Parts: sequence; C-alpha cells; structure tokens
Amino acid sequence: MKQLIFTLFFLITVLNLYAQEEHDLWLQKKKAMPVNVICEKKSATLDIATQELQQGWQGKSGASVTLTIKKDNAIKNDGFRLGQNFVQANTELGILYGVYELLRRQQTGQTIKDEIYNPSYEIRTLNHWDNPNGSIERGYAGQSIFWRKDSSFIVTERDKSLWQEYARANASIGINGSVLNNVNASQLMLTTDYLNRVKAIAEIFRPYGIKVYLSVKFSSPSLLGGLKTSDPLNDTVINWWRAKAKEIYSLIPDFGGFLVKASSEGQPGPQDYGRTHADGANMLADAVKPYGGIVMWRAFVYSPNDKDRAKQAYNEFVPLDGKFHDNVIIQIKNGPVDFQPREPFSPLFGALKKTSAMPELQITQEYLGHSIHLVFLSTMWEECLQSDTYQQGPGSTVARVTDGSIYPQTHTAIAGVANIGLDTNWCGHDFAQANWYAFGRLAWNNKLKSTQIADEWIRLTFYDAASQKNKTANYSSEWNESFLKPVKQMMLDSREAAVNYMTPLGLHHIMSANEHYGPGAWWAPPRTRADWTPPYYHQAATNGVGFDRTKTGSDAVSQYHEPLASKFNNVNTCPEIYLLWFHHLPWDYKMKSGKTLWDELCYHYDKGVKQVRQFQKVWDKVQPYVDSSRFNAVQRKLRSQAVNAILWKDACLLYFQQFSRMPIPYDIERPVNNLNDIIANDTRRRN
Ligand code: GCU
Repeated sequence: MKQLIFTLFFLITVLNLYAQEEHDLWLQKKKAMPVNVICEKKSATLDIATQELQQGWQGKSGASVTLTIKKDNAIKNDGFRLGQNFVQANTELGILYGVYELLRRQQTGQTIKDEIYNPSYEIRTLNHWDNPNGSIERGYAGQSIFWRKDSSFIVTERDKSLWQEYARANASIGINGSVLNNVNASQLMLTTDYLNRVKAIAEIFRPYGIKVYLSVKFSSPSLLGGLKTSDPLNDTVINWWRAKAKEIYSLIPDFGGFLVKASSEGQPGPQDYGRTHADGANMLADAVKPYGGIVMWRAFVYSPNDKDRAKQAYNEFVPLDGKFHDNVIIQIKNGPVDFQPREPFSPLFGALKKTSAMPELQITQEYLGHSIHLVFLSTMWEECLQSDTYQQGPGSTVARVTDGSIYPQTHTAIAGVANIGLDTNWCGHDFAQANWYAFGRLAWNNKLKSTQIADEWIRLTFYDAASQKNKTANYSSEWNESFLKPVKQMMLDSREAAVNYMTPLGLHHIMSANEHYGPGAWWAPPRTRADWTPPYYHQAATNGVGFDRTKTGSDAVSQYHEPLASKFNNVNTCPEIYLLWFHHLPWDYKMKSGKTLWDELCYHYDKGVKQVRQFQKVWDKVQPYVDSSRFNAVQRKLRSQAVNAILWKDACLLYFQQFSRMPIPYDIERPVNNLNDIIANDTRRRN
C-alpha cells in the first residue's frame, strides 16, 4: 500500500513537472546566479523588474545591476537603454522591458552592448475572440482564460494567478494591450458584472503594463440602453456612449479603448443608419477622448454584391481617408481577404495617408491547421511587414507605412488575434507558443528576422530543461547541432509547407466551410452567398483555374501602387506565389520551370506532404533532447498533420483533375483517398 501511495505521489509530481514545462512557455525556470539590484525608486512594476533579475540572472555571480529612470530624448515611449549592468528608461515599464531584454540576451547568448531599444509600435495588442460564455471563436486551446460558461463573476485565486502569468508572459515580449472579448461582440460586455470583472483583470495586468480594451457592439445603445436607435449622429446615442465611457473609466482609469467590427459580416454598424465608418468611429472616439482612449476600427468589410471581395475594404476606406479623428486607428488584416495561408498584402496599407492604420495578424491558426499543425507564422508576418507598398517610393514597406516612419500617425499600433486558452500549454500545440512569442517580438521590432525569433524561442523554451539533465562538458554544442539547428529549420520551413499542401501558387479560400480546417474546394450549396464558397475564389473550369484580378478582370491590381499594379497585372512578371490570386490561367500554361501549371500544382501539393513527413523525422530524431511530455504531444500532432496534409493533397488534386483532365505526374505518390469519400465525410461532419 505504502509503495502504491509513493508511486502515485511520484507520478503526480513528475506529471506536474512536465506539465509545468509546457505551461512555462519561453519563461522556463532558470538556475540563477546571485545579483545585486540597485534601484532608487520603488513601485509594483520596479519590484517585478528586480525580482525577475534575481530569478533569472545568468551574468557574473554577485554582479550589480542598476535600474535608472532618467529622461532621454533618444528613448521613445517605453523603450530603454541597455548595457551589461544597467537598464535606463523614461518610464518604469521601459525598465521592465529592458530587464526582460537583458535576461533574454543572457539566456540566448546574444551580445549585450550599450544600445537603445525603441518599440516599432506604440500599442501592441492581443485581440482575444473570447465570448462571454467562455467559448472562443476560432480558439483551439480550450475555453477562455477570462470568461466562464457558468457566468460566475467570482474572481478566484486561480483566475488571478493565471492572469498574472499571462501578463508576465506578454510583458516579457513587449505586448502592452489586451482586447478581452470577441470582435463579434456581445452587448453584455458593457454591463456592470462584466465591467467589474474587466476591472479585476486590469488590476492584475497593471504592474505589467498591459492595458485592457473591449470590443463593443455598435447597437449597444438600443440593446442595452433601450434607445430607439444606435445612429451615431443621434444626440441620445452620443450621450449614452459618453456616459458608458465615463462609467468604464471610473472603474478602470487606464482603460485602453474600444475595438469595433461594424457593418461587417452581419454585425450592426453606422451603415444601418445611412452613416459612414468615419461617422461611427469618430462618435466612439469622442466618447473616450477625454480619458486618452482610442478606437481601433476594423476595415474587415465586404458585402455579397461586389464582384471581388478582395477589393472592398480599399473601396470603402480610401474615400474616407483624412475624415477620421486622431484617436481612431484603422485595423487592417494583413491580406485583402481573410488570414489565408498566403495572400499579397492588403492594398489599404500605405493608401491611407492621412489616417492612422495598423496591421491585424492572426496568431490563432484558423486557416493554418488549428492547434494540430506545426506552422511557425513568423515568416508569413515578416513577408507581409517587409512587402513594399511603393506608396511613398521604394522602401515604403507595410512595416514603415504603419509604424510612423513615413506618415505622421498620431498613434501607431499592431494587433494579433490570440491563440490562448485554458489548455495547460496555453496554445493547444507546444509550437504554437512560438507564434505568440513571434507576434510580440515583431510588434516590438518589426524588422526582426524570423530566423532570430525562432532561434531565441527554441533556446528559451527547450534548452534549460534539457541542459539541467545533461551536464556533459560539450552538451551545449551538441544541443546546438542536434536540436537547435534541425528544429529551427523545421520551423522556418513550416509555413511554406502548409502553403504547399493547402493553397499553393496563389490559390486561396478553398478550405472546408465553417470549420476552416480540411480541404473543401467543391463546397457550394444552393442559396449560399457566393463569396463564402471556394469556387468563387478558385474559378476552376476546363479552361483553367484562378481568379482574374487583372485590369481586364476585377482590376484589383489597380489598387496597388505602381510598379506593383503592372507587375501583378502581367502574367510574366507576377510572382508565381501569387499567380492564381491575380490570374486565371489554362491548365497547360507554361510555368518558369518549364512544367505545365497542372504539373507544377501537383508537385507543390506533393512537396508539402513530403515536407511534413520530413518534419516527423526531424522530431523523432531530437527525442533525447526533449522531455517526454512535450515530445509525445508534438509527435502525435505531427502524425495528424501528415494525415491531414495527404488529405489536402488528394482532395485538391482529385477535385481539380476533374477540370484539368490531365494525369498526376507518375513520379508522385498516388492518392490514397477517394474524392467522393472525402466529400461525403466532410458533409457528414457538417450535418
Ligand atoms: C473570419 C472568421 C470569423 C471572424 C472574422 C473577423 O471570417 O472566420 O470567425 O469573426 O474573420 O475577423 O471578424
């Protein structure tokens, strides 16, 4: 009996330890050296900074580190100056960020010299698509960490410690804002019970510098306030929002502001009252202005009537440029359609010249394999941020037209749709944590390279746990060669692999309906909005495939600044990664490789599958360097990813083959699934 109890106790402890490693993200517990922290001021934020140094110091044993708050014009916002033994900043938060950077550099072996680090964006937010009942739209890591199904508003100790861990993780990568609820907002969020909980969350977040924001439903004055209208130009409506803002700020004095999805996908908005997006956004902006709040107004709008969904945000917002108040920021998804595995950048970037604009990226993998596929999104975001819009001459990258380098924006910001839930490892997949990390790092420095981000994340997340168990003299170089190198390569290749087996050569929006996980190129039930069905996007027919967005097609190319408009318009100069985004081409069209379009498509799908099979080998081989819990979890997920990649390949090739009527090249693995079965299973799942 004693033996049994001991074994059980041992097992529980070991399991907890393993779960802890998954839960600790990139902040794995470190064996620290003693350090003497000198800081003249005292505050909750500075106490955290001091404690972090004491818990994680990897520099000289017994060294002294000075934390100084001193005005320096070269330091922007919450930036900082850093040296081996000091952090200097204009603000307490700058000190905290500096401490995290110092520790990161020590732990990842990067050089530490006297240098200033300024954030690219003033506001760096996570957007949680969490509903009041605790569910998460497009969430794949369990229920919400903020809201509960049982609508109990009691704030437990567990809530508090989880929110604190969340705030710490965010602060460690420079994130300074959280929108706590879904953009498809419920008016309930503005009721007293919910606002009190927001206040409790804000109190935990405050020392870590995380401001809270809320998504608001535009028709709240009618739904909550019982007003006859929610018309933004109506005085009673204006007063309702002013009173609501006053109430919110009396509870949360540093409340960040509102995020609004309006007149979009059935959500109410100013257009319901014949008003413009500017009318709606400005009215809300005026309500929060006295308190320093902002409004992030989303440009994700499209109606079923237009011939090309990709053109609509630009068409609606460019005529309003200059009409928005200075505390409004237009939040623009990276691509013109919807977070697809690959899209060209949204032409709105740079086209708004007199209005603050901010990128919206999606960390949760709605279209990239949920929390099952290993896909490192940093390379996708880097591709977008470094895309040249040419709006103010060469070098007008998406990064520079949004971070204030080119346009005099009153506010600069960036948002990432969060992938966080109650799962022990927060994100559903251990490697999905890297996407949260990468978003924070790019929000802080939009010029960072994915290879550096991956390198840092792997070292922070996996090295410590492994090295404590392996104390051999040359363990570090062995680990670099045998773990870091192959795992980093796998991460850097993973997004292109997903594009290959899902939507190569500019194909897009061909996923299964609603759940957005598997393939669904065929899906088009009668009476469904055409722009919600894949055939609208791929246009496959016997004469070819692809969406004609050239000047003789929908003319979406003309929304891009020259030389891009001509480059995309001309099939010979259009980058092949965007070919079928901009062109409808015959199946036997000759690609640069000399192959036909059909063959090239087949080889891309095949390559994607092969890449995932390779990732499996990489992971199996690194087993000695990973704790068994994380090893097994990732191994299992890679197996599912491989099965799903094969399904994508088989489904897309067999479906498109009905139109191409050409053979799948014979050196490619033959399909193992039948198209009819795939479609039948897909339909069954949905019924
Ligand atoms: C996508 C997603 C929706 C979400 C919407 C948005 O369409 O599927 O769930 O509400 O984007 O960004 O508003």
